[in-house]
Amino acid sequence: MKTAPIDAPTYNLSGKVALVTGASSGFGEHFARVLAAAGARVVVCARREDRLETLVDAIAASGGEALAVAMDVTDAGSVAAGFEAAEQNFGPVTVLINNAGVAVPKQAHKTSEQDWDFVMDTNLKGAWLVAAEAARRMVAADSGGAIVNIASVLGLATSMGHGVYATSKAGVIQLTKHMALELAGKNIRVNAICPGYFKTEMNDEYFASEAGKQYIASTPGKRLGEMQEMNGPLLLLASDAGSFINGIALPVDGGHLVTSI
Ligand SMILES: NC(=O)c1ccc[n+]([C@@H]2O[C@H](COP(=O)([O-])OP(=O)(O)OC[C@H]3O[C@@H](n4cnc5c(N)ncnc54)[C@H](OP(=O)(O)O)[C@@H]3O)[C@@H](O)[C@H]2O)c1
Repeated sequence: MKTAPIDAPTYNLSGKVALVTGASSGFGEHFARVLAAAGARVVVCARREDRLETLVDAIAASGGEALAVAMDVTDAGSVAAGFEAAEQNFGPVTVLINNAGVAVPKQAHKTSEQDWDFVMDTNLKGAWLVAAEAARRMVAADSGGAIVNIASVLGLATSMGHGVYATSKAGVIQLTKHMALELAGKNIRVNAICPGYFKTEMNDEYFASEAGKQYIASTPGKRLGEMQEMNGPLLLLASDAGSFINGIALPVDGGHLVTSI
């Protein structure tokens, strides 16, 4: 019996322009390298421009192409200017990795109004400003596109001392579903990745401490995630390999969320 040939999925991003926020360290820096290695031209955004320039050079040295653009995700004018610079240099952005984020680990009743505004303005308002700017431009260009919001396992469950952060990431997940609903008809997919714990500048001091080590030992996999373990999930949602995946919040956490009570 003859069967139809089965095409292996393609994670190739050649010809695409990808914009990554929070690209000056941690996940964002890594994501930019992965997207460039998959063939995209990558616009790397953050406030620390010196770090972005170093990243652009590293991507170029590996045979990729990248552009550094200063962007403060809490400022609508800065976001719009960043997308404009991206478009002028590389053409319309069709892949967005909405990754910039901050944490102030405190219990909810010990969180100040200033802490609340800082985390919410960056993680939730910032994510909305950036996703909305990208979506408006994708709709105007009739290009379709893929938006990948970086939420957290703390948007799906919660943990002591992470009140405002967990609340902001739950908001990012609902924003993801909502925008997926509204934009599906425009061929724009909006998904979220919910990472478990990975060592970055956001948490390296904690994970180097005794308390941090004990916490890692208490997780099902008894280890942190490795950066390269994000590559598959990222490329699945950013590329045509995930062309019918829309509105999901994908945990990448080694089973942390299925911890028994
Ligand atoms: N590491 C983890 O275990 C983990 C787990 C779940 C989710 N996450 C999420 O992953 C994302 C990346 O975090 P990370 O762990 O890679 O931490 P990180 O190394 O501290 O990176 C955070 C990035 O966000 C940028 N950023 C912060 N405020 C910004 C603003 N107002 N405008 C523009 N960029 C801003 C920073 O750049 P500048 O300071 O240069 O602007 C930096 O590049 C965050 O959304 C975080 O919540 C991390």
